[in-house]
Amino acid sequence: MKPVSIGLLGLGTVGQGVANILLRNSAEIERRTGRPIRVTRAAVRNQAKAEALALDIDITTDADSIVSDPDIDIVCEAMGGEEPALQLLHKAIANGKHVVTANKALIAVHGNELLEAARDSNVSVSYESAVAGGIPIIKALREGLAANRIQWLAGIINGTGNFILSEMAEKGRSFADVLAEAQALGYAEADPTFDVEGIDAAHKLAIMASVAFGMPLQFDAVYTEGISHVTREDVEFADELGYRIKHLGLARKRQDGVELRVHPTLIPEKRLLANVNGVMNAVLVHGDAVGPTLYYGAGAGSEPTGSAMVADIIDAVRCLHAEPAHRVPMLAFQDDALSSHVMLDTPDYLSAYYLRLHALDQPGVLATVTDIFGKLGISIEAIMQKEPAMADSGEAADESGEVPIVPIILLTRRVREGLIEQAIDRIQALTTITQPVTRIRVESL
Ligand code: NDP
Ligand code: HSE
Repeated sequence: MKPVSIGLLGLGTVGQGVANILLRNSAEIERRTGRPIRVTRAAVRNQAKAEALALDIDITTDADSIVSDPDIDIVCEAMGGEEPALQLLHKAIANGKHVVTANKALIAVHGNELLEAARDSNVSVSYESAVAGGIPIIKALREGLAANRIQWLAGIINGTGNFILSEMAEKGRSFADVLAEAQALGYAEADPTFDVEGIDAAHKLAIMASVAFGMPLQFDAVYTEGISHVTREDVEFADELGYRIKHLGLARKRQDGVELRVHPTLIPEKRLLANVNGVMNAVLVHGDAVGPTLYYGAGAGSEPTGSAMVADIIDAVRCLHAEPAHRVPMLAFQDDALSSHVMLDTPDYLSAYYLRLHALDQPGVLATVTDIFGKLGISIEAIMQKEPAMADSGEAADESGEVPIVPIILLTRRVREGLIEQAIDRIQALTTITQPVTRIRVESL
């Protein structure tokens, strides 16, 4: 049978993974598809660099010629960024080609328009590799859990961020040093602030939430906080309390709306998610029928991501022969059955909290702080006062240089975020509090 012809946009970390897997596993893949699949053309910026890879692929710097090539059946985008990727995929779709992409930024922000264009052209857009690297989480949400009302999902969905937090916690390495290694290993985004500021995780969360809850993509509704302010001190205090700090993406459907949030989170150390380290990702999904299910695997890297992309290519090969009505819907639910849930804002989020205060070691300070919580009706789960540092040796001395400063750690019970913000404002206004209050959310999962 005539081979299916793939045009790759991008032949970097992910593109090479796709090319290598399709070549190495060609016989096994053909046993699944019934047709051979060949990467025939690839677009890059630096032709000489790509040709030096010595792959049996026609290399071009003219990406447009690939999406317009009548001999290309499926366009596979692994170039990243917004433009020219968006325009190229629109052209590919208009030319009747099925599209596979690893570009989560593109799907999260422009997915609704791309999917609409694909429906109009009777082609598919697949994006498994855009979320959680090699873990087939989109397939699990869209097909494996199709019987369920999905209630919430929570995941460690950025490999670079998890690698940084794990290395800092386990080996005491510096943030900058670990980030440089993640970049060298090909895990990080072209702009690594996407990884460390949580934007990449927010892209992935927006995609998973759409597929889980059957709603249009809503990247703007994701509250996003990165890991750059997580300190070794907090990692150690959390450890003493029996928690690990992880960068978590959480989507929860409540009676009154949907919470979508990405932020550093204290997770009890016994939870499986708390023990997901390095570049590994994991997603915990709770369905009403199945209960909790957990998906774990490499969250970034050439062949793990290539694995997810090739799985999408195989599905797209099947789409070449299946009527649109017989395909799995691109966002899991029928297009006319997507719902418009209310997106909750931060004051309505429900979470427990870890607070770190630095207070002058004076009688009555703790009582004043706990009184603020009492008046707001916030229950305290645990309180820990650390050894005082003498002001003249500490970083936050008072004028005399003699009053010791004590770190105070508080864990609250689950409460509306608006109330915690009020408590922090009141604590911050006390003259005995010497530094800004640190707040990290706590999820028992
Ligand atoms: P790389 O930087 O390693 O590769 C990008 C490739 O695209 C290179 O071949 C580059 O060519 C080519 N390219 C970029 N811009 C253009 C352009 N304007 N015209 C033609 N070619 C272009 O990126 P990755 O492989 O790491 O990432 C690609 C995509 O996959 C991104 O969207 C990323 O978010 C996503 N992704 C990455 C993962 C990973 O582990 N790295 C995991 C999951 C998703 P040249 O080298 O000549 O500049
Ligand atoms: N930069 C991303 C990460 C790549 O580190 O998770 C995988 O999506």
